[in-house]
Amino acid sequence: MTIERTVPEERSPESGRPVGFRVQSGIPPKERGRAAALYARALARDMAPLVGGGTNARRGATWVRHAMRPESALVILDKRGSVAALAGLSFGEGGFLRPDRRQMRRIWGRLGGQMRWWRWQGWPAGPETAALVIDGIAVAEQHRRRGFGRALVQAAEAYARATGRPALRAEIAANNDAAIRFWSQLGFQPVARLHGARLLFPRIPADVIVMERPVGTAPVP
Ligand SMILES: CC(C)(COP(=O)(O)OP(=O)(O)OC[C@H]1O[C@@H](n2cnc3c(N)ncnc32)[C@H](O)[C@@H]1OP(=O)(O)O)[C@@H](O)C(=O)NCCC(=O)NCCS
Repeated sequence: MTIERTVPEERSPESGRPVGFRVQSGIPPKERGRAAALYARALARDMAPLVGGGTNARRGATWVRHAMRPESALVILDKRGSVAALAGLSFGEGGFLRPDRRQMRRIWGRLGGQMRWWRWQGWPAGPETAALVIDGIAVAEQHRRRGFGRALVQAAEAYARATGRPALRAEIAANNDAAIRFWSQLGFQPVARLHGARLLFPRIPADVIVMERPVGTAPVP
């Protein structure tokens, strides 16, 4: 699926006309490393116990690179063809990330990998749904507040409509206020709060807010 959109405030210096950008499905092979790094960096706060920051960031990106399903994503490429934004998609049979325990041990060592594996198992899973789940959305910092996030959600909605999905769903770390404002702005309403296992990292809030928006009403604003 390819959707042509235009960022109104971005204009070609030569013609003065708006420059379009495209939302496309699937991460191009040469962009997978960059996409993984963007996803890991943007969601590091939400997934801190898994990907971490600082020196752990590189390993977090490596982990995402191995765990992600590149075909289950919508991406926006910048003018040079680099990933500027991406949204993972989940169709009900597993999420955008499909971690492998052995791989986690390889990346973080026996104990570090095992702990992260348990942590992953304790991550609260959303209730069964026929909705199209947007499984993490990440816009590169230099491209934020230009409508890229909105364009990805609009493209996901078009896809959900075309495939007969009744709703769009997002699952957001309960302490990610900016993201909750973003989803609310796009017409998503909270439908559930999930409590994650706090066993291994008791001080890290693990709650998740599930937000949904029906497909078939007015399009995503
Ligand atoms: C959240 C995120 C995806 C938004 O992407 P974006 O491209 O900047 O969002 P848009 O420009 O499409 O914003 C659409 C609307 O959402 C709201 N919004 C976006 N970012 C916001 C923020 N940081 N604080 C409050 N409202 C925000 C605004 O109303 C905005 O419209 P406006 O700019 O006309 O006021 C981006 O900030 C990001 O990658 N954050 C880090 C990762 C993350 O937290 N992801 C969500 C977890 S699932």
